[in-house]
Amino acid sequence: MSRFEGKVVLVTGAGSGIGEGTARRFSDEGAAVVLVGRHKGSIAAVAADLPRNRTMARVADVSRPSQVESAVAAAVKAFGRLDVLVNNAGIFAGSSVTETRPSDWDRVMATNAGGVFHCSRAALPHLIATKGCIVNTASVSGLGGDWKMSAYNASKGAVVNLTRAMAMDYARRGVRVNAVCPSFTLTHMTADIAKNRKLMEKFRERMPLGRAATPADIAAVIAFLASDDARFITGVNLPVDGGVTASNGQPAMG
Ligand SMILES: NC(=O)c1ccc[n+]([C@@H]2O[C@H](COP(=O)([O-])OP(=O)(O)OC[C@H]3O[C@@H](n4cnc5c(N)ncnc54)[C@H](O)[C@@H]3O)[C@@H](O)[C@H]2O)c1
Repeated sequence: MSRFEGKVVLVTGAGSGIGEGTARRFSDEGAAVVLVGRHKGSIAAVAADLPRNRTMARVADVSRPSQVESAVAAAVKAFGRLDVLVNNAGIFAGSSVTETRPSDWDRVMATNAGGVFHCSRAALPHLIATKGCIVNTASVSGLGGDWKMSAYNASKGAVVNLTRAMAMDYARRGVRVNAVCPSFTLTHMTADIAKNRKLMEKFRERMPLGRAATPADIAAVIAFLASDDARFITGVNLPVDGGVTASNGQPAMG
């Protein structure tokens, strides 16, 4: 498939997990890919696997507007345009409000919600020029509450509604904005949970399709939302969750 030949795609948090899977997927489909992340080593390692002439790795912290602006400018300088922004970088904090330090609240909000704002703000002029699109990695944790995930829930709820707000503001200028809402996905972020057999069993009980997602499962939907097949979709927060949000929350009986 070469749905993205001639297109330029910038992926944040591209050094691991869903971001890495997404960068690889767009590259496999012919795009020039700009991998953005905090750690040079991890984005460089992913980039080393991809075609040299259409890959770029750029260190930036998405919570820092000046770093994000430089990364977007470097991408446009290198490849002449920007067609797709994937706002994927994110961090997790597992605690209730009284257990959450204000500094952790600020960090999670600045990265997960602030990062989407800063990157979108820097990229939108270029996306308007190409009639491009944005795909955000939100979460099922932005659609409903979890136990002991207050800051994470708040930050992903912000991403969900920012997705809708940007979709409305930029639709008439030709830019679509959507989000994927993954459920439990096997990545660095969930590595400790994945090692806990009891907890994994509990998760499996709640997953109608009976397994966790892989980064490739999520990347495939991100690529779909960025593709021309999704040309009439904007403002959607699409669960990619193996059926988790189909449940009303009651346990299985028998
Ligand atoms: N794994 C899951 O179960 C799951 C479920 C729903 C949503 N998500 C979301 O998917 C996204 C990707 O997470 P993942 O599961 O692949 O985990 P991950 O930890 O493998 O990937 C997150 C990436 O974001 C990068 N990052 C973090 N803060 C950054 C910052 N300030 N600036 C730039 N890069 C930064 C990290 O270095 C890392 O490479 C996140 O937004 C996460 O909230 C994950």
